[in-house]
Amino acid sequence: MTVQPIKGFSKLSKEGKTEWLIENYFDNPEEALQLLKSYWHNDEKLQRLHDEFIENTVTNYYMPFGVAPNFLINGKMYCLPMAIEESSVVAAMAKAGNYWLDRGGFKAKVISTKKIGHVHFVWRGGNTAKLQRFFDSIRDKFFEETQDITQNMRARGGGIVDIELIDRSDLEPNYFQLKGTFETCDSMGANFINTILEQWSSILEKYIGMTDLLSDEDKHIEVIMCILSNFTPECLVRAEVSCPVEQLADKGVSAEDFIENFVRAVHVAEIEPYRAVTHNKGIMNGVDALIIATGNDFRAVEACAHAYASKDGQYKSLSHVEVKDGMFTFYIEMPLSLGTVGGITSLHPMVKFANQLLGKPNAEELMKIVAVAGLAQNFSALRSLTTTGIQKGHMKMHLLNILNQFEATAAEKAQIVDTFKNRIPSYQLALEEFCKLRGINAQEFAKRLSQ
Ligand code: MEV
Repeated sequence: MTVQPIKGFSKLSKEGKTEWLIENYFDNPEEALQLLKSYWHNDEKLQRLHDEFIENTVTNYYMPFGVAPNFLINGKMYCLPMAIEESSVVAAMAKAGNYWLDRGGFKAKVISTKKIGHVHFVWRGGNTAKLQRFFDSIRDKFFEETQDITQNMRARGGGIVDIELIDRSDLEPNYFQLKGTFETCDSMGANFINTILEQWSSILEKYIGMTDLLSDEDKHIEVIMCILSNFTPECLVRAEVSCPVEQLADKGVSAEDFIENFVRAVHVAEIEPYRAVTHNKGIMNGVDALIIATGNDFRAVEACAHAYASKDGQYKSLSHVEVKDGMFTFYIEMPLSLGTVGGITSLHPMVKFANQLLGKPNAEELMKIVAVAGLAQNFSALRSLTTTGIQKGHMKMHLLNILNQFEATAAEKAQIVDTFKNRIPSYQLALEEFCKLRGINAQEFAKRLSQ
């Protein structure tokens, strides 16, 4: 099918967009339309809200919303909301919650909460000392002439913390930055920071044209861009679990063996980037599920976490382990720039639900909870990997996805799940069990599925 480009697509009504889409891209437009419509919400007001979150909405995209109870964090009980599609993640999280509930729970603390943004600009004057003198002469203006924008944030205890001139001309000819440090309290702060940065670029342009500290030919800058940085190494949180070594003896595995394997597994992730990426992916299973459930920006959190994991020049594990004086301590330190106000937090009904479930945390409390989720998920993954192997738990959960693919009935699912009580399922084994139960030829069924 060759599809002609369309002009003014965003101006079409939702029905118009849907019609264009199904007629141009689907062999069976009626079926495609019914599918899209079946995901529309019955409540028109609620649907409109979702339509208006983004441009060109044609339907909603469902993702399971699960919970992991029994999380004791800094002495308080939480039930963690998780929006995620991967079958075994919530089960692994719940396991970690229960495991550490019996061993003192999780401890978490916020180390710092600063955010960063830059006005990136070009100045061709050459003599950085002169530009610095000029910058020093107008430094106060960046605070004074943004007071209307910062007023509310200052009332909440935040605002602009600092502004510096940074010379990056050693990396790119004539390249400089205004680097801002901000405190954005309970909001993630992207809009706040970006608005200030754009105002700063105007202030810079205005005053450089008026200064006596530079010659006429140097009184000019070219702004490249004004944007916050999603790398927030100074918006940092630490979460940990610890217990006496002997409490780690588990299901026939001695505490010593468990620790030896676990510690080695963490060290491998500290020295081997191939493993570190997978190790951190497991951490992000927990982190992202909470970030999405609480309406935060998982792309920002992901980008930042991986940049932080590379801060020493090599990509490494975000979590670490220590065994000292008879105590086992497993901890994570990671940047998390989160908001509990702003964005979609007061709009999306499930985000509101998730925040209520967590007891309406402020941003710092949410940072701690999310860091705990990352650590918990990592603990469960490493515990499985270094003992039973990961496939046992993973395939047990994934089995239902496979059976749903076969369109098994509830009774068939129950029966087949039962046959895997004491062995690890695989796609092929599930297929064989299913066909045996239905009395059909497995090869033919597999062929039909692949068509
Ligand atoms: C799977 O989603 C995550 C794991 O691969 C993480 C890990 O290997 O640590 C199990």
